[in-house]
Amino acid sequence: MPENVRIGAAADGALLDADPRYRATLAADFNAITAENAMKWANLEPTPGAYDWTASDRLISFAQENGQAVYGHTLVWHSSVPPWVSEAWSAERLRAALRQHVVTTVTRYRGQVWAWDVVNEVLAEDGSLRDSMWLRRLGPSYIADAFRWAHEADPDARLFINEYGVEGRTKKANGLFKLVRGLRADGVPVHGVGFQAHLRLDAVPEDPIGNMRRFAALGVSVAVTELDVRLALPAKPEMLLDQALLYQHMLRACLAVSTCESFTVWGFTDASSWISAHYPGYGAACLYDKDMRAKPARDLLLHELRTHADETPS
Ligand code: XIL
Repeated sequence: MPENVRIGAAADGALLDADPRYRATLAADFNAITAENAMKWANLEPTPGAYDWTASDRLISFAQENGQAVYGHTLVWHSSVPPWVSEAWSAERLRAALRQHVVTTVTRYRGQVWAWDVVNEVLAEDGSLRDSMWLRRLGPSYIADAFRWAHEADPDARLFINEYGVEGRTKKANGLFKLVRGLRADGVPVHGVGFQAHLRLDAVPEDPIGNMRRFAALGVSVAVTELDVRLALPAKPEMLLDQALLYQHMLRACLAVSTCESFTVWGFTDASSWISAHYPGYGAACLYDKDMRAKPARDLLLHELRTHADETPS
């Protein structure tokens, strides 16, 4: 494993308890875990003030038992907002509720979560700010506020802005670049940019290395945070090879950028990936198939990591 880059997977606590192969593979192949859903607001605080930390604590203790780092996902998002939070509230009330959620969650896991996705998916496809409840009611300053609140709650945590559709040279990536540059210029504690990387074979990101490097030049870390490569079903053997190459392409991009801190896949087995439910007709997006057999992508990533380790002077 490379010394500075964590190799992570998004995971789900219920599967940890249900499936010994899931547990064993997660422990053996990865040195970091992201909570796929357990730390989202609607799951943590289903009723006001009544936090349920069971699922997120379960993941954290698994990670600790296995010497793995935990990447926190995600504090502010337009999705997974608890149903009791209302856009009809006054801006002050809404802002106070958001602040309370950020501070409570980051404080709870201070020292246990090395990095947080502070804001997730705040951009529209054209690179402008997404038309979300947060933007409509609080204005653009909710983004800087969220970073400041999180930083106060855990000054040692690395704070990321996380986005999809920004791995290559897209309009949205340009918008993200301007946003991060502006936040840094204003002294907002943004430490990293997460590139989700939910990819498919017919839309390969253009120049991910150059793209990540321009962000790194702003003084932030970068990370691949949610990589998967979905295939049109039924998946043919040659598609699995192209999929492996795209996984490798993204790992190479991360390893080529000196401030790339982590490389995370969004689930590691086709048995429990989010893809089929969200993209009808697609699937087979992960490193392991639904019977937990390693696919070409898993072997190629391992090969890439070993080659990189051999070439890197220790
Ligand atoms: C997805 C989970 O994988 C699903 O289980 C859930 O139903 C919806 O959310 N971008 C993100 C993740 O930042 O939080 C999303 O995770 C996938 C897209």
